[in-house]
Amino acid sequence: MHSENYNSKVLVEMWTDFINWDKRRLGENGFLLNTLQKFHCQKIFDACLGDGADSIYLLKNGFNVTSNDLDKLFIKKAQENAKKHDVILNVTEYDWRDLDKHFEKKSFDAVLCLGNSLTYLFNKKDQLKTLKNFLYILRDNGILIIDERNYQYFLDKREEILENGEFRYSGKYVYCGDKVHGKPIEISDDKVRMEYTDEKTGKKGYLVLYPFKRGELLNLLKEAGYTKIEQYSDYKKEYNQDADFYQYVCVK
Ligand SMILES: C[S@@+](CC[C@H](N)C(=O)[O-])C[C@H]1O[C@@H](n2cnc3c(N)ncnc32)[C@H](O)[C@@H]1O
Repeated sequence: MHSENYNSKVLVEMWTDFINWDKRRLGENGFLLNTLQKFHCQKIFDACLGDGADSIYLLKNGFNVTSNDLDKLFIKKAQENAKKHDVILNVTEYDWRDLDKHFEKKSFDAVLCLGNSLTYLFNKKDQLKTLKNFLYILRDNGILIIDERNYQYFLDKREEILENGEFRYSGKYVYCGDKVHGKPIEISDDKVRMEYTDEKTGKKGYLVLYPFKRGELLNLLKEAGYTKIEQYSDYKKEYNQDADFYQYVCVK
């Protein structure tokens, strides 16, 4: 995951402060555990480990978790965090697009793709292949829990955000840190460049991401073959066009 658009080292250093683990849990208010329990999930595939925030939380709550990421620096950071929390990560390093080559069909009860991660892939073919691979490794009636940023807001308000500096973000969900701030510095229909500033060090990190339009991810999930999909807005079971993030619970 190294390119001119992606300086992993700087981002890895600031990611835990960008999330604020305690506030992420407060924001989701039991959503993850309640959903996994509702669908009787025990064996979990966390497709994008990052710094370990969700995998470590689930391990501490007794789940059997396989934690995956492509980025060696993130994996190292997650392993350091796991040590601090006295749990052991079971790590795989597969590209989502190749998961069907590495796992048997129906290997997991749940797949997590959280923290606005599918947005790392830019073309529909890759996004769809990833969602189909998640479906492939899920058991029947297993669930994919996936989330996305409300990029439609970025696209609709691009002048206000870029020219007037009026960027609306509650900071209460998913990425909740108050020492690291993320904001878009370029917005176009096919890419968004995010700038992350660490107030403690003054360092800046950047990510270029694919902005899903309203309804686009939901349509991809249907096209991939998920039979029942529930949409949440900032963890509430409703559609709110002003939400910061949308979550989807998708049943196989
Ligand atoms: C936005 S981070 C989110 C991490 C974590 N889930 C969180 O909530 O903070 C996305 C992660 O997905 C990983 N990733 C991106 N594309 C990937 C791919 N094709 N296969 C596997 N991992 C990927 C990145 O390395 C990164 O650690």
